[in-house]
Amino acid sequence: MSKKLYIETLGCAMNVRDSEHMIAELGAKEDYELTDRMEEADLLIINTCSVREKPVAKLFSEIGTFRKRRKEGAKIGVTGCTASHLGEEILKRAPYVDFVLGARNVSKITDVLDRHHAVEVETDYDESTYPFGDYRSNPYKAMVNISIGCDKQCTFCIVPATRGEEISIPTELIVAEVERAVKAGAKEVILLGQNVNNYGRRFSAGGEEIDSFTKLLRRVSEVEGLERIRFQSPHPLHMDDEFLEEFTANPKVCPQIHVPLQSGSTELLKRMKRGYTKEWFLDRCMKIRQMVPGVAISTDIIVGFPGESDEDFAETMEVLETVRFDQVFSFKYSPRPYTAAAEYEDQVPDEVASERLKRLQSRHDEIVDEIMSSLEGSVQEVYFEELRPGGRVAGRAADGRLVSVEGSEELLGEIRPVRITRGMRRSLEGELAG
Ligand code: 5AD
Ligand code: SF4
Repeated sequence: MSKKLYIETLGCAMNVRDSEHMIAELGAKEDYELTDRMEEADLLIINTCSVREKPVAKLFSEIGTFRKRRKEGAKIGVTGCTASHLGEEILKRAPYVDFVLGARNVSKITDVLDRHHAVEVETDYDESTYPFGDYRSNPYKAMVNISIGCDKQCTFCIVPATRGEEISIPTELIVAEVERAVKAGAKEVILLGQNVNNYGRRFSAGGEEIDSFTKLLRRVSEVEGLERIRFQSPHPLHMDDEFLEEFTANPKVCPQIHVPLQSGSTELLKRMKRGYTKEWFLDRCMKIRQMVPGVAISTDIIVGFPGESDEDFAETMEVLETVRFDQVFSFKYSPRPYTAAAEYEDQVPDEVASERLKRLQSRHDEIVDEIMSSLEGSVQEVYFEELRPGGRVAGRAADGRLVSVEGSEELLGEIRPVRITRGMRRSLEGELAG
């Protein structure tokens, strides 16, 4: 009888993909299959995030629950970004944990299983050519890593300390993976990396013919049967004109882009070491809106970064008004170990940061409500990927918005026109229009 794996994933899409890689490895080499019940699992894994303090706290509360609910003899593993940066410390705080496996050491999952208190957290371990299996939680859209690690030194960000230096995955491996996913039924791929549009910066096995993200997009779009390409996350600094032209002209590249702002104040952007100004950011977003009608632009914003004055925050609000983002992920600054900004002296009081976050979120909500209701009556091409309760099926419009219609299984994996009947804050409802 096969063994059972319970896995909980916190954090970003890279982590979701790392979990899929672990599931594939454990399934192929150790005969594990997934369960969603902690009580019946032989192995419980939490794949952690450390980008802010909150998900780190979540780790310790979750493994406490694992310990209480696990069946006798079941193992507990801590993997991912917090495993990387806390390492041994996790075993000191929670000695019942069996192993600690850092992000970027995912391929060692079967090696650490039977080594009591194994800690594998090298951040220079190179998995860029490891042949992971093809497990995917959603067969209709495939996440495909194109690089690992990050070379940027944004002063707020712990990721370079948890995922190490940036290495691009060889193009032929990416294309082969996309081809396999398409053969298995995916019409859409999401190219993943910490900084996708820096593709080609460094290959572990020497030079490569395809050395830019723009060229990679072109190459991937040649895969027959593939209809939609998305990517996550690009950096505003590397959005040169050539890239914008490809983004506009390539019919398989979806009109959806994440342009992480962080702050609207050039002064603060400098202290964050982001490498661009408010003007550059606005110029890129305005160009994108001009060149790609109907594009959805999402962003990340941090409020309360050390030294953020009322004027700095007002500039962030101004960018929000000008770009009218379709989606905003906003966070209160959280000081992280191994980052320069954690040492800055002018930390912003929590009440001030909370108040700014509230203002930002409520203004953004108003903007989104306007955008979503303006879509009522429009017709969107929706790729259906998921059954919903109440006899509904959900999918994504080309711009990434969640759309649901009445329907059943036969819509899954289909791209169909949908007339939007109702715009809500986070999703749209519609009816098939053909
Ligand atoms: N505090 C708050 N938010 C952060 N992010 C990264 N580091 C921090 C931090 N120390 C946010 C950024 C990034 C997103 C993934 O998380 O906005 O783009
Ligand atoms: Fe992803 Fe960053 Fe969280 Fe790591 S720390 S899981 S890279 S969001």
